[in-house]
Amino acid sequence: MRSTDQNAWHPASWQARRAQQQPTYEDAGALQSVVASLSRLPPVVVSWEVDNLRERLARAQNGEAFLLQGGDCAETLTDCESDRIAKQLKVLLQMSLVLLQSMKRPIVRVGRFAGQYAKPRSAEVETREGVTLPAYRGDLVNRPEFTPEARRADPQLLLRGYERAALTMNFVRALVDGGFADLHHPEYWDLGFMHHAPLRESYQRIVASIGDALDFFESLTGQRVADSTRVDFFCSHEGLHLLYEQAQTRYIQRQQRWYNLSTHMPWIGMRTAQPGDAHMEYFRGIANPVGVKVGAAMTDEWLQEVVTTLNPHNQPGRLTLIHRFGVKEIERHLPRVIDAVRRTGHSVLWVCDPMHGNTETTAGGLKTRRFENILREIDLSFSIHREMGSYLGGAHIELTGEDVTECTGGAGGLTDADLQRAYRSHVDPRLNYEQALELAMLIAERSRQRS
Ligand code: PEP
Ligand code: CO
Repeated sequence: MRSTDQNAWHPASWQARRAQQQPTYEDAGALQSVVASLSRLPPVVVSWEVDNLRERLARAQNGEAFLLQGGDCAETLTDCESDRIAKQLKVLLQMSLVLLQSMKRPIVRVGRFAGQYAKPRSAEVETREGVTLPAYRGDLVNRPEFTPEARRADPQLLLRGYERAALTMNFVRALVDGGFADLHHPEYWDLGFMHHAPLRESYQRIVASIGDALDFFESLTGQRVADSTRVDFFCSHEGLHLLYEQAQTRYIQRQQRWYNLSTHMPWIGMRTAQPGDAHMEYFRGIANPVGVKVGAAMTDEWLQEVVTTLNPHNQPGRLTLIHRFGVKEIERHLPRVIDAVRRTGHSVLWVCDPMHGNTETTAGGLKTRRFENILREIDLSFSIHREMGSYLGGAHIELTGEDVTECTGGAGGLTDADLQRAYRSHVDPRLNYEQALELAMLIAERSRQRS
């Protein structure tokens, strides 16, 4: 048994463990000075927001709320633009509204933004036409262009990423405070790239029915549904780059706990969740709600160790398991992992990521995902959890508020041949605005049928 002595934990205790997927920097002094600056800069989020999210996730775990987590596979530094951020919020908000109306329970909105800059890679290097260079690891580390200069790990990018994360959250908070997401103003929620008329109409019906319900409640009680109509957005990212995470880990005297204040909800990716390794060591000591991706390679024993190490006191809302098996594997693995977790006696929030197990490559060499596989994995997740007597409490989606062509299918009928038109992702293919909203509508429709 590896040491899991909580007293031995500190924000840098992971450094004594094997750390996978960490970049190699040429200049150790430059790296150290950047990490020292990051440790002094103000946090991106604050501890009471983190606690608030954990409480909401505890409700989702009990079936009283639903988590919608979504955003880009990887943010880039140049993507930090007001219009793009507003579009991202808008699609998440509209999806949540559609889900709220059919599920009749609060939707917890968590963006994959304000720090989603570091990516795990399946190979350390990339070779093109006989030239081999380090792999692109996200804008927090290096740049995607295939030149030795761009692929060099640059410590300054840690600061640029932190600054963009803070700018993003600043704008998100200002939009929310300014009424962008006030349920009394559905007129702010106009549709963007919605080309398909029946989808447009059904969305408009949903918005109108929420407006009517609010009016009815307010005329009945004579009160404004003030607090409950203001919506919040939380942020999340893969906590991959451990020096970045460590530098923003702060001790909060009032709580007597360490918090990672670079984000509300960091998660551990598929490739870095080995028990005893650095990521598990770092994550076990922070007070944030944390996620762990669960794939087909994870054995029962491994998953059980993840659950008991990360949530030894079985605190509600602390641990979200994000399963990503793919449509072909889910029926084989999901019952097994639900059962494995049950045997620990611990509770978790179960979330389906229907993206990462469904990636394929087209004949033309582009990475894509088919809308029907994404939808089917979500459907299967709902039904398997139900059969097993557990509860699917959320969905984790890669999406954008823009009109890209990266995933095929959906009402717009995108085919492999359409992908060239507006393929912008440097990493994984995202649902576009119309596909994302359509997915929410289909999830909502099935949830109405089930209830
Ligand atoms: C991701 O969420 O972008 C990702 C890399 O996922 P996973 O760790 O599940 O492969
Ligand atoms: Co991805």
